[in-house]
Order: sequence, then C-alpha cells, then structure tokens
Amino acid sequence: MLFKKPSILVTSKLPGNALEAFGEDYKIKSLAGKRAPDKKELKKLFAKADGAITLLSDQIDETVLTGSKVKIIANYAVGYNNIDIKTASEKNILVTNTPDVLTDATADLAWALILSAARRIPEGEKIVRSGKFKGWAPELLLGMDLSHKTIGIVGMGRIGRAVARRALAFGMKIVYADSRRLLPSEEEPYGAKFVDLETLLKDSDIVSLHCPLTDETRRILGRDRLFSMRKGAVLINTARGPIVDEEALAEALESHLFAAGLDVYEKEPEVHPALLKMKNAVLLPHIGSAGRETREEMARMAVNNIIAFFDGKVPPNLIPEQVTGVTH
Ligand code: DGY
Repeated sequence: MLFKKPSILVTSKLPGNALEAFGEDYKIKSLAGKRAPDKKELKKLFAKADGAITLLSDQIDETVLTGSKVKIIANYAVGYNNIDIKTASEKNILVTNTPDVLTDATADLAWALILSAARRIPEGEKIVRSGKFKGWAPELLLGMDLSHKTIGIVGMGRIGRAVARRALAFGMKIVYADSRRLLPSEEEPYGAKFVDLETLLKDSDIVSLHCPLTDETRRILGRDRLFSMRKGAVLINTARGPIVDEEALAEALESHLFAAGLDVYEKEPEVHPALLKMKNAVLLPHIGSAGRETREEMARMAVNNIIAFFDGKVPPNLIPEQVTGVTH
C-alpha cells in the first residue's frame, strides 16, 4: 500500500456494492444522497482526499485541481471531458475511465432512440394514453423505414462499431467518419465505408454521433452542417451535447430533418427550450449506460482503478492520454 489508509472521495451514490472492496484499508467519504457538489465544494473536498471517484457532471477544472491532494481520479464514465486532463497530468494526477463495459448498453440506447425517432414511438404512446387512438388507420403516424437505408456513424470507436453491428441486423448500409480510417480488416465485418463528414451528412438517412467531446468535435454539427444533412434524415446523439448546436438543431427539426433522438445536451441538465417544443425530438435524460449490470460494473472498475493505484500498480483503465510515462 502506497499510503496508510488513503481517504477516497466518492461524489455520489453508486449502484451495487463495489465500495465494499475498499474494506478497512481505506477511509471513504461518500456524498451519497446529498446534492451534487458545486465547484467550491469539490475544491475543498479535493484538498483533503487522496483519491476520488467522480461523475461526468462533476467539473474537475484547474480551480478544483489547484491545491488538490488527490493523486487519482476514477471517473465513473467512459467520457472524461469533465476533467481538465492537461492540468491533472501536469500535477501528476492519474485519471481513469470505464471503457468497454458500457459499449453494448450505450449502443442499445442509441438504437432505442433510432427506432423511437424513426417510428415516432413517443407520439404513438401519447395518442394511446390520451385516449385519442380511434382505430387503425393507413396514414396514422407514418414513420421512416430503416431497412436498406444508410446509417452514418460519426466516431467508429467501440460504441460506434456496436451501433454498426446492430445496423447490420436491420439491413442498413453503413458509412462512417472518424479522425482515422479503420484497417480494412476492421471495416470488413460491417461492410462500412469510410467517408468525410460532409459526405456522411449528405448521404445518410440516420446520423448517429459516437465521438468524444474534444476541442475538435465541439459543435461540429453547427447550423450549416445540420442543414447539409439529407432532407428528412434523423440525428441521434448519445455522445455529448456540445457536439451539436441545439438551437440550430431545433430549427432544422422544424423544416429539414425528420426527427432527432437525444440522450445528451449542451448544458445538462438544461435542455434548450426550443427542443422541448419539438414533438419530433425524442429526449432522454442521459441514460446511455443505465443498464443495472453495466452501472454496477462501472462502479467496480472505478474502485479497482483506485485500489490498483494505491497498491502501487498502474491502474488498468488509465485514460489513453496518460498511458505513456506513468510515474507514481
Ligand atoms: C459515459 O460513460 O461517458 C456516458 O455518457 C455515461 O452514461
């Protein structure tokens, strides 16, 4: 053990019993049940803890990291755009995430949104519950057929590929855009064609976003690109809200797109009021990875990363930016 009884901050209640693995060797400060800590509170807590398990909604920026005692942050998410990685790395603070385990759950939810948006599921539900269902009708809630259509996947990483796998079962053609082209052997199982973003937007009936939020991807779908999408297409975002200009999306939904399915928002938990008014927007509260087993496994991963670190080992899920040159 590197430290005697390290103190670990856990900023929220986590599903399952993963924290039990800390046993008597650690001192746990869990904020379970309390409201989410603001930046000022996080700064104070980080000044006292040796390690932290954080949520994607905890903004761990330079202010929080300045004066921090924390040596390892295990982010309870695959995305870690909530953490200032540059500052953390400069301060020799390790950051881990929870890759792989949530791939299928998130791809499932992307598909739930694709089907909901294309086939107008929430509108249908509302009709039935409000007593407005007057019987079968040839033109009731006509939606978009999916088979033989093209799905454009932006970001062909683990989740993008899991979405592509499911698209094959729906008989769809797959195009993808990414900062790097996959190897032919990686493309082959999906019959996926590598295209630039402009081509993808022009040629896809469904566009599904699976890239991380970085300086390069922030608002990559602005007004011009949204209106360059195929008329009557569907946009799905289970990645991060700030990738899309929400106001422009609401405008595109009025006249250009068939529908959108969103699980993430620019300023979570706020949702742009214009989007709330659009009945062709299917809106979910960031539940991409919210399968019980998935969320329990994410908790175990976060705990294991912390334990590995204090056992003097390299945490298994160190973020790629920190994989080289790790020193304790
Ligand atoms: C993640 O892990 O980044 C997801 O957004 C959480 O559901």
